[in-house]
This record gives sequence, structure tokens and C-alpha cells, in this order.
Amino acid sequence: MSFDYKVADLGLAEAGRHQIRLAEHEMPGLMSLREEYGDSQPLAGARIAGSLHMTVQTAVLIETLTALGAEVRWASCNIYSTQDEAAAAVVVGPHGTADDPQGVPVFAWKGETLEEYWDCTEQILTWPGEGANMILDDGGDATMLVHKGREWEAAGQVPPTTEDDSEEFSVFKALVRRTLEQDAQKWTTVAGEIQGVTEETTTGVHRLYELARAGELLFPAINVNDSVTKSKFDNKYGCRHSVIDGLNRATDVLIAGKVAVVCGYGDVGKGCAEALRGQGARVIVTEVDPICALQAAMEGYQVARLEDLLETADIYITTTGNFDIITAEHMQKMKNKAIVANIGHFDNEIDIAGLAKVPGVVKTEIKAQVHEWTFESGSSIIVLSEGRLFNLGNATGHPSFVMSNSFANQTIAQIELFTKPGEYDKQVYVLPKHLDEKVARLHLDAIGAELTELTKAQAEYIGVDVAGPYKPEHYRY
Ligand code: NAI
Repeated sequence: MSFDYKVADLGLAEAGRHQIRLAEHEMPGLMSLREEYGDSQPLAGARIAGSLHMTVQTAVLIETLTALGAEVRWASCNIYSTQDEAAAAVVVGPHGTADDPQGVPVFAWKGETLEEYWDCTEQILTWPGEGANMILDDGGDATMLVHKGREWEAAGQVPPTTEDDSEEFSVFKALVRRTLEQDAQKWTTVAGEIQGVTEETTTGVHRLYELARAGELLFPAINVNDSVTKSKFDNKYGCRHSVIDGLNRATDVLIAGKVAVVCGYGDVGKGCAEALRGQGARVIVTEVDPICALQAAMEGYQVARLEDLLETADIYITTTGNFDIITAEHMQKMKNKAIVANIGHFDNEIDIAGLAKVPGVVKTEIKAQVHEWTFESGSSIIVLSEGRLFNLGNATGHPSFVMSNSFANQTIAQIELFTKPGEYDKQVYVLPKHLDEKVARLHLDAIGAELTELTKAQAEYIGVDVAGPYKPEHYRY
């Protein structure tokens, strides 16, 4: 079997395979979906373009999708988040060798340039023969490429780059321009074949709802993020684990006794704040939403404004999914050797472009994805992963067990959209509650949790079915 792919080094495949094997043990949700659907092959005929951090856990997801019959092409959704051994193992496959790879075409390696990143994203949407008919997205870049590509194609041109464009957007425009030069109908053709997208994260979901509101969504979408077993687990408990992992691997600074600022107290912020407090940091939260601010205060965190903390805080973590949270001006006022890191999806939470323009600033690489920025005053700050999500850039993201919940939702969502094409409009949907409960149920045995069963009378008394769903739609967990 021969196929195209681009990864760092296929020689890493064996190391990757060992890690995948251990991860499978920690991913009961995905493994039981393989058992449940392995024979019926609900994804036979699905050609899935996946854009999601190419980690060991994602390798287990990819091999679950193929075990259910899908063909897959994969890229990472961030330039730093690929684990090269996982990428190699997926290309080689469980039964192939480095000389005879038999797995899945992956286009991802740690430390891509922006040009390479968008090339890889294009690769997953450019299939030999018939095109992709499903997208599995994280952050919405693959979906954006199809939508913007088609929009600009219809308008007859890609708008010229302006001064206001970020570097990333200029690179993106250049890619679309190149693809349209090669094939003026490319994105209309690609869009025409896509049956649906399942989206992993808050930021990507936000983009989907904007498209749907504007009536511009080209195919149905399932918002995987807002399954309870995704956002209330991955975003919270996943970050509770990987925020510390990222800080430790990047800096190994003692967190105890430090003042740590968490910008944003949504699901990700809640996990980060709890983890930092668990390490003995004094945690201060910034928020714009009075409900989340009050929640933070009730948990015992000080709630303050960033401007008032710059002289005292040692560690800053942005978790907002918003932009310009930490500006170049903020960074110049920070304490010497303050650590600045973002765990939100995109790198615009911290104004790295602005930081680079500060007169006299000097950037020193301490090690890969760890940079010291020294100001003319002699004071410096440490920036992790160039402002990109540092739990994946400096560490390996969330652990397998929590990702098994997220990815079980992804798999179920792919099955829903692929097998029921007539049932979904060009809107954004969440999975029904009984499937959310199913995902949770799949994970209880592995951690020895014994569920209490309702009696029929009790079920009637609280107005639910003995088999669930156990909560009304408006319940918030
Ligand atoms: P969320 O919407 O639950 O929380 C974000 C919070 O930030 C909100 O409470 C909002 O009020 C607050 N906020 C917005 N602007 C602010 C500002 N200027 N100052 C202070 N607070 C502000 O979103 P969630 O689920 O916590 O996700 C946050 C980001 O993290 C998203 O970009 C998401 O895609 C990403 N994410 C990253 C993960 C990772 O592993 N690195 C995992 C899961 C999500």
C-alpha cells in the first residue's frame, strides 16, 4: 500500500506504538465503541479530514475511526502540538513497518511553520480520488479553509493582504490564493462533498455559531465541546492536569508560594485555578462575566483586574478564548522573570506581535518553546510556546482518560452526521443527553465507580425514566 504523508521521522513509530498501546488501556470509551461498532462498520464510506492535535490520544481516536470503517487524513490544529512518535505510529499503522507503512496519511510534525501548517490543512482536504465527506475539527481551521476558500472563490478573488492582517491570516490568504490558481473551483467542489463537521473546542464552536447565525454554514455541524462529558471534563479536569505539566516541563519553577493569575474563569480557567492552588500558589482570577467572577470569589480566589496585578504576579495563564488579554504594555510592566502562558485555543490572547515590536526588546531561546524576552530596563519575562496553547506546546496535552470522554463524543458525533444525512440541517447541534450519559457510563467501570440504580417509583417521583436521561436539558451540572 502506498500513500502520501508527511511526518518528522517514521523511525519513531515503535516508540509511538508503545505509547498508543498504553493509552488504549486508559481510553475505555473509545475501546468500547470499537467493540460495539466494529462489526457493523457505521463509518464505512466516510472519508474524514481530521484537524486536531496529533497526539498519542488522537492516534487512538484515529484508529477507532478506521476500526469503524472510515478512511482518514489527518493534520494537527496547532504548529507545536504534534507528538512526532504518535504521528509516525499512525502512518506506519499497527501492522506496517517504517519501510512499508500501512496506516493513515498524517501531515503533522512538531514545530511547523505557518506556511507548513496551512499546507498540511490543505492536504487533509485534498484526497486522491473522491474528496473528504466529513470534517473532524478542533478550533475550526479546516472548516474555515473550506468556507473562506469557497467565499473568495465565488467572489472571484482572495482579498489582498492588508496591514491589519495578522501574520497567520496573510499566510492563510496566500495558501487560498495558491489553491485557486491551481483549481478555480477547488473549494466549491470540496464544500459540495462535505456532509458535516464535528467540532471539538469552545473557540471552534463559537466560529460555527457565527457562520450559522449569518446563514453561511455550508453543512451541518455537531458541537462536541458542549457535551457535558466534553467541556465539563476535558476543559476542566484536562487543563487541571496539563496546566501544571506544561509549566513544569517548560520552567520547573516552584509554583508553591507564587502569585498566579488566571485570566478567565470558564471551564478551562476553573481547572487551571484549582491546579495552581493545589500546588500552593496564591491564585487571582480576572473575569468580565459577573457570574464567573462570583463563582471564583465563592471558591476563595481573589478577583481583580490585570492592570493592578502586574507588579506582584509571578505566573499568568490566559484561558479566555478572547484576544488582547495580555498586551505588550502589560508585559513591560511585569515583575522580572514573570512567566506568561496561554492555554486558550489561539495565540492572540497574548500580544506576541506587539511584544516583538517593543523598542530594544531582545528574545532569547532558553529551549524549544521557552523564550526569555528582555526589555531595555534589564527586566525580562518568560513566554511559553510563543503564546500558543502551552499545555500542548510545552507538554503533551491532556491525559488519555479524559480525552477518551472527548473523543467518544467525537466518534458518536461522526456516526450521527455520517449515517443520518437527512436528519440534520445546516445548523449547529449538540448530541442528545442520552448519548452524553452513555459516554460517562462507558468510563465508570474503569475507575471502579458503582452507579446507584433508581427504583421505578423513584424514577416516577422525579419524573425521569429508570434508564435516563436523568436531567432536563436546562440543567447545568
Ligand atoms: P469559556 O467560555 O467557558 O471560558 C472563557 C471565560 O473567559 C469566560 O468565562 C469569559 O467570561 C472569560 N473572558 C472573556 N474575555 C475575558 C477578558 N477580557 N478578561 C477576563 N476574562 C474573560 O471557555 P472554555 O471552555 O474555558 O475555553 C477557553 C479557551 O480554551 C477556548 O479558546 C477553548 O477553545 C480553549 N481550550 C483549550 C484547551 C487546551 O487543552 N489548551 C482545552 C479546552 C478548551
